[in-house]
Amino acid sequence: MTLKRVVQYSRIGTKLMMSRTKKETWPISVSFHVTKKCNLKCKHCYAVLDTIKEPELTIEQILSVIDELYNHGTLSIRLLGGEPLVRKELPEIIKKVKSKGMFCELVTNGTLLRKRIGQWPELKKLDSVCVSLDGDKILHDSIRGKGTFNRTIDGMYALIETGIPVRLHGALAADSFADNHEPHKSLAQLSAKYRIPFNIATYCPNPFKNSDDNANRESFKMSSQVYRDLLELKKKGVMITTTKHILEKGVDWFNYTDKYILYGHTDNLPPGHKLCQAGITNCFINSDGGMYSCIPRWAKGLNVIHDGVKESYEYMIKMRKIDNCLLCYNLAQWEYSSFFNFADPRLLFNMSKNIFRLLHHKRH
Ligand SMILES: C[S@@+](CC[C@H](N)C(=O)[O-])C[C@H]1O[C@@H](n2cnc3c(N)ncnc32)[C@H](O)[C@@H]1O
Ligand code: SF4
Repeated sequence: MTLKRVVQYSRIGTKLMMSRTKKETWPISVSFHVTKKCNLKCKHCYAVLDTIKEPELTIEQILSVIDELYNHGTLSIRLLGGEPLVRKELPEIIKKVKSKGMFCELVTNGTLLRKRIGQWPELKKLDSVCVSLDGDKILHDSIRGKGTFNRTIDGMYALIETGIPVRLHGALAADSFADNHEPHKSLAQLSAKYRIPFNIATYCPNPFKNSDDNANRESFKMSSQVYRDLLELKKKGVMITTTKHILEKGVDWFNYTDKYILYGHTDNLPPGHKLCQAGITNCFINSDGGMYSCIPRWAKGLNVIHDGVKESYEYMIKMRKIDNCLLCYNLAQWEYSSFFNFADPRLLFNMSKNIFRLLHHKRH
């Protein structure tokens, strides 16, 4: 890790601690959909891109929103979409985020990485690139399209060769376990081979379909076994970014409920869980400027350009209270929420370990 990065992360860490002593809240971490365009059409995608009728934000609007987020205290920006690598102004966006000293992660399907790394030197400024990989070649191609696995793996190689920090992220889809596929084990093998950290996300019901999304009950129920397996693999030293203690909660969830989302007026939190922070200290901004708290509330909210960033944030908090949503089965969000509630020192240790691993992956 370079001295510059150590100073940068120490500054972010200090600001983070200070932000938690303040009374007012603000999204410390923002996931920004910088485009609604995508070069793929994945079966499981929550961002139902063809339903977004509004135009994308202009580059000037995106840069000014980033300025405003930073001025209010945002410390980390994750760039996603659609596919962020199709947006021609992505280098300008990365430059802006990094010029503010914020942590910047790109989430990508990876298929355009090799080409873009050659074209855009700004990609080397990224603190992390999260490459989406949903299982072995057959499974990944069945979800994301023929030939995508090879192109994504090639993108991952390009990151390794260039020394850009990389992690893998697998999302479960409705039929991820059909034909004896075990997506989490495929990712574990790749992770061990290339010494790259990874995690697995449960399929999140698409907010434009029935929220129960029956087609995915099977995949949802399998999550408990997936997290049980990940606990075993983690014991053997496989680089899984999720904390042991959060994986244990993921296994335990089904002992209390079989629902994906719990609401305050009807449900109780399983023991040891903290109130979800989505829409409070983290949130999403859609490609048209809509601010929303989390994937189950995708595309719902005020618009940061038409209504203002602060106003959209205040509305989002109000909606969280009205909906009275407590928690959903999203382990990455649990980890984030527990961390920002300073619930457990093990999370701070785990996060430091993940950043260290991310920046120290071996080159092949
Ligand atoms: C919407 S994509 C946008 C970035 C990029 N196009 C990609 O595929 O990585 C962001 C992340 O959400 C994940 N994702 C998509 N649909 C999902 C769903 N229904 N449940 C959980 N994760 C999902 C993707 O696998 C990806 O890692
Ligand atoms: S590549 Fe990403 S944004 Fe595009 S359809 Fe797939 S999951 Fe959705």
